[in-house]
Amino acid sequence: MAKLTLEVNGFTREVEADPSTSLAMLLREGLGLRGTKIGCGNGECGACTVLMEGRAVCSCLVPAGRANGRHIATVESLGSPDEMHPLQRELVARGAFQCGFCTPGVVMSLVALLQRNPQPSDDDIKTALQGNLCRCSGYVKLLEAVNEVIRETARER
Ligand code: FES
Ligand code: FES
Repeated sequence: MAKLTLEVNGFTREVEADPSTSLAMLLREGLGLRGTKIGCGNGECGACTVLMEGRAVCSCLVPAGRANGRHIATVESLGSPDEMHPLQRELVARGAFQCGFCTPGVVMSLVALLQRNPQPSDDDIKTALQGNLCRCSGYVKLLEAVNEVIRETARER
């Protein structure tokens, strides 16, 4: 066990953990942030996607020790049911998901994309979602939702 210190969603969190456990497990079990899902546990589904230093990563593949001292953002950082992130609002408005298991990972991959490129093309969006598998809904509504957020951002400029 080791004492790890992470910046999670803007707060400094100290936690005793096995540095070889996954960041996904640390977030869920050590820090109680269960918005991050664990699907395959081996880097194939993207359900566990979080941001580490602003980049989307599969947190099931990141040893907790490697996240020590890093900035982590999970889906809990984005909004609340009363005050959703624009992307969450547009996804909900379109019924873009069914079971929702993939949703936190998809949202975090899209947030990472929009942070580095506020005006992505459809190809950019598809590339950003390459690592996120959704078994129940298509990706069409995801594209529509992101494109609405892009239009909104452009109108506000
Ligand atoms: Fe991490 Fe599937 S749970 S990629
Ligand atoms: Fe069920 Fe995506 S909505 S896996």
